[in-house]
Amino acid sequence: MRIGFLGAGLIATYHSKSLRHSGADVVRAGVFDPDGERAHAFAAASGHTVCASEAEVLDSCDAVYICTWTNEHPRLLAEAVARGLHVFCEKPLAFTADEAQQMAEQADAAGVTHQVGLVLRRSPAYVWAHHLVTDPAAGRVMTVVFRDDQFIPIQGHYASTWRGQRELVGAGTLLEHSIHDVDMLRYLVGDVTRVSAQTAFFHELDGIEDVATASLRFANGATGVLNSVWHDNLARPSLRRVEIFCERRHVVIEGDDWFGPVSWTDADGTTGSLEGEALSAAADTMRDGTDNPDGEFVRAVQEGRRATPDLHAAVAAHRIVDAMYASAAADGQLVVL
Ligand SMILES: NC(=O)c1ccc[n+]([C@@H]2O[C@H](COP(=O)([O-])OP(=O)(O)OC[C@H]3O[C@@H](n4cnc5c(N)ncnc54)[C@H](O)[C@@H]3O)[C@@H](O)[C@H]2O)c1
Repeated sequence: MRIGFLGAGLIATYHSKSLRHSGADVVRAGVFDPDGERAHAFAAASGHTVCASEAEVLDSCDAVYICTWTNEHPRLLAEAVARGLHVFCEKPLAFTADEAQQMAEQADAAGVTHQVGLVLRRSPAYVWAHHLVTDPAAGRVMTVVFRDDQFIPIQGHYASTWRGQRELVGAGTLLEHSIHDVDMLRYLVGDVTRVSAQTAFFHELDGIEDVATASLRFANGATGVLNSVWHDNLARPSLRRVEIFCERRHVVIEGDDWFGPVSWTDADGTTGSLEGEALSAAADTMRDGTDNPDGEFVRAVQEGRRATPDLHAAVAAHRIVDAMYASAAADGQLVVL
């Protein structure tokens, strides 16, 4: 299986390293990035071959990673699936849910395997928390508080300027970053039926909100709050804290997005906490397959099956994000999904 890369930045490098760690049997094919220096550095580190164009990459491979800034995702995905290539596309898929839906339909129609970079679906912390809250002993989920804070990623190790440009990134912290959180809220609690949201623009970047606060109602009757902020505190690169109240269990995910700790307290006074290797080992017994998103992608292609999470999971998250923006544009008015 020959793998190509479109984009050779931060997340492309993550996936390339993760592919190596997965031990997947792949051939490193072409890579293209208009920033030639990046393409060469990526190729030198990974064994890919630098190509002069997107088309050259698409001609060189059986499966392609789309790791460019967001506005390029829809066009590149359409070109890749038109050639029958399997695709791993980074999140957000597009600026709107309708565009994302079109991408999922194009990939389905081409009959290819597709996966989206909503990587928390494979995180031991979230897989274990999902087990804890769906355990009948916990009772029903009543409410969730999800806080996500990060320094605005036009600085620090992200070193990206495009996240401050609306025409390339689409919007701010809610779409670009917290689409992960919206996906995890769906994964942990369930479908969302109503939202009310507000945004703020402290950095005064056109169309790039740096605060998004949303109130959610889930189909199962639970409620929730999402608070997402891009600040200037470089000591806080990307930190989440999730607190889930079930009828008879309280669960907290904090610390590292992957390795926890995840802690819980039950009605009978029992408490528990798992982190690191112990958390990974526990989550391994709950998850379908590997904790490595790239190993999952290669295996799904090789086995000719759907990958998890596929583009449809992203479309569902995009619908909620769109509803939150519509609410914020109407000063927090309730939006029904
Ligand atoms: N899943 C995650 O946790 C996660 C984390 C970071 C970024 N992302 C997503 O990944 C994407 C890239 O983010 P990044 O942090 O790697 O940004 P980055 O700036 O490090 O890299 C993006 C690269 O894309 C290149 N590029 C732009 N147009 C291109 C084209 N047409 N063909 C080939 N290359 C092109 C740019 O020159 C740049 O080098 C974004 O959509 C972002 O939201 C996802």
